[in-house]
Amino acid sequence: MRQKIVAGNWKMNNTLNETKELLKGLKKELKGVKLDNTRVIIAPTFVNLQHAVKKTAKSILEVSAQNLHEAKNGAFTGEISADMLLDIGVNVVILGHSERRAYFNETDEALAQKVNTAVAKGLDVIFCFGEQLEDRQNENHFSVVESQLKEALFGLQAEAFKNIILAYEPVWAIGTGQTATADQAQEMHEFIRGLLAKSYDAKLADSVSILYGGSVKPNNAEEIFSKPDVDGGLIGGASLKEKDFSAIVKINLIG
Ligand code: PGA
Repeated sequence: MRQKIVAGNWKMNNTLNETKELLKGLKKELKGVKLDNTRVIIAPTFVNLQHAVKKTAKSILEVSAQNLHEAKNGAFTGEISADMLLDIGVNVVILGHSERRAYFNETDEALAQKVNTAVAKGLDVIFCFGEQLEDRQNENHFSVVESQLKEALFGLQAEAFKNIILAYEPVWAIGTGQTATADQAQEMHEFIRGLLAKSYDAKLADSVSILYGGSVKPNNAEEIFSKPDVDGGLIGGASLKEKDFSAIVKINLIG
């Protein structure tokens, strides 16, 4: 069933001590908050995942990785496998973030392999995609998004979508303070749901959570989350501040 989700992508931030502090702060801010068909996910860096899993065991927070390698194991220096994540209690992974695509050359083809591995292992995937500024200016944003989804994701069998959370993140809105308007987010999310309905069926389309990401803050989350096809957000900068992230979580629970 479609869920409301707020996920925090911590990126390459927070030492172990800073992770401890932020987790403490988050647990305090979110104390007493009850989840109702909703999820709250945080994605610390690899080296702090194990600590985060331990410290969030009795909280509403779930822990996600920010990447994985598609191979089972082997000679892939510096990489992390799905089994390694599962082994320490991490059941969610972010894949396809625009920073991975831009700085680490992750192509749709490579992402399809990562997604297939993650889903085969039973991990939930927060799959990110979205157009560049130039694509939007040239009015190519719908076709770019369609191609990213078709190439990396639509090879999956329908039942795999129970493990998929979509995160539409227009690249021009990430870390720029320039968020998409709520109407722009809704328009794209509706389009994405339409693609799911066409490629699979309407029931599946209705069951998949689609998050918006890109400069979501406490002061704009309410308007964005109020849109019918927006099921929550993937939060970068604001997820590093316990008060901001908790405020966004609470807005999503109410909205
Ligand atoms: P931002 O990042 O909230 O800082 O724009 C979002 C993301 O990269 O997922």
